[in-house]
Amino acid sequence: MKIQTSAPGKLMLLGEHAVVYGYPCLVTAVDNRLYVSAELHKKNEDEIIAPQVKESNFVKETLKVFKSKYHILDNLKIETQSEFSHTVGFGSSSAVTVATLKALSILLDIPLSAKEIFDLSYEVVLAIQSVGSGFDVAIADYGHTLYFVGGGKEIRPLKNDEMHLVVGYSGTKADTPTLVKKVSALRKEKKEEIDRIFDSIGKLVEQATECIQIKKWEELGKLMTQNHTFLQSLDVSTDRLDSMVHTAVEAGAYGAKLSGAGGGDCMIALVNEDKREAVEKGIESAGGEVIRVKTNAEGVRVESS
Ligand code: MEV
Repeated sequence: MKIQTSAPGKLMLLGEHAVVYGYPCLVTAVDNRLYVSAELHKKNEDEIIAPQVKESNFVKETLKVFKSKYHILDNLKIETQSEFSHTVGFGSSSAVTVATLKALSILLDIPLSAKEIFDLSYEVVLAIQSVGSGFDVAIADYGHTLYFVGGGKEIRPLKNDEMHLVVGYSGTKADTPTLVKKVSALRKEKKEEIDRIFDSIGKLVEQATECIQIKKWEELGKLMTQNHTFLQSLDVSTDRLDSMVHTAVEAGAYGAKLSGAGGGDCMIALVNEDKREAVEKGIESAGGEVIRVKTNAEGVRVESS
């Protein structure tokens, strides 16, 4: 028997960095997916076939964590395949972890709830990266759009099927743990100031949650742009990201911000469909590459069994 599962990539809507310190964030799943197939091997050893070394390391750690909880043999063959490049910051590591756990649970007939998959995946991510709020794992697992509190203290799905985003890739890959550590160092230096920023970001997330629920897009856009300003104060933006955000707003977006750890990766702009083309052109004129994705995608699922 061969099981294939898939998990979606993600885009952080609001609240990055503050979420690492226990504040809430908003995150949506994108329709680019990462696929994992799992089957029992004839050999008495595991085999992992993954195009990226990073993905292979996450699968290895997932097997380790899974085996320490459930006693299974070393005879698994795991293969991964991704629809998105790991360079754009869509969360291939969390998607591969969640999809692997789902595949193992079906293949070995060990039922796991969404929360159990979250807990095990978060353990894997922390074992490898040592830092992180777990939001990326939660969205790969539950999908759609989530209100998420650092560490998974609250994981609340939000109804959100009409939000229009333009996504721009800045052309540089960011390393999340490095940026999280950079913010942590800044907080050690200026604790009060940074905590005030986190507090303000937390409030923006609460307001934005309300806006999504009542579809107040113009207001949501403004909150996103304010969030970007706070991220600039945390020193995680770049000139390229700032300029992409600026041109997107100039071109008529409701608002825009970097999405994720910063230092590169992507920015997002909230638009009305009639402004999409102008905003896309604006982002490209600032040196960004537009990536077309649909948001609010389904969480981890079984593709075939
Ligand atoms: C990275 O995409 C988002 C951060 O908040 C880190 C995390 O929440 O794990 C910077």
